[in-house]
Amino acid sequence: MQAATIGRSSAPSVRNVILRYVYEAEHVIDFYTDVRSEKAAEIRADPRIALVGYDPEGMVQLRLEGVASVLTEGTDKKRAWDASRLRSLVLYRTPVPPGTSIDRPDDAYPAQSDGHDINLAGYQNFCIVRVSLKTLEVLDLSVPAAHKRARYSRTGNEWEGQWIVP
Ligand SMILES: Cc1cc2nc3c(=O)[nH]c(=O)nc-3n(C[C@H](O)[C@H](O)[C@H](O)COP(=O)(O)O)c2cc1C
Repeated sequence: MQAATIGRSSAPSVRNVILRYVYEAEHVIDFYTDVRSEKAAEIRADPRIALVGYDPEGMVQLRLEGVASVLTEGTDKKRAWDASRLRSLVLYRTPVPPGTSIDRPDDAYPAQSDGHDINLAGYQNFCIVRVSLKTLEVLDLSVPAAHKRARYSRTGNEWEGQWIVP
């Protein structure tokens, strides 16, 4: 999905993230990121977040709004780390924070294992961004000339839905 936050200069800021987990009963979704990233700083400064995704096969767009928090410890983080592929985790081992200017692309990565346990190196840089959903909007384009759009708002555990004009 694309996740939009409020940049630190108050301008919008958007980027792709991978939706990793949905806790239906809790109304939360997770994606993973680096605690040193700009988006983590933005969320800490202002937790409001919006996400959008499109399923090209089903022809459905999903727009989500909520409040995000950055989880830097706990059993969910450990489980997420253990379930992630080494290829993804290598990003968290970079010694310089994401977004730092470098001379060459290779400068982002450590020359070799820095002697730490390879399974834990970078763990401190890994975090879960957990979004507590407040609104959800579905736009279904699968039937030509009969598009459907609905908006749902949550109060506590109750979602209230309403058809709206596409
Ligand atoms: C397909 C795709 C998936 C991505 N998934 C993630 C992700 O799950 N988490 C993440 O931190 N960055 C992800 N990225 C990279 C971000 O889009 C972004 O470039 C990076 O996180 C820096 O963003 P920031 O400076 O706003 O923090 C993904 C990029 C692409 C193209």
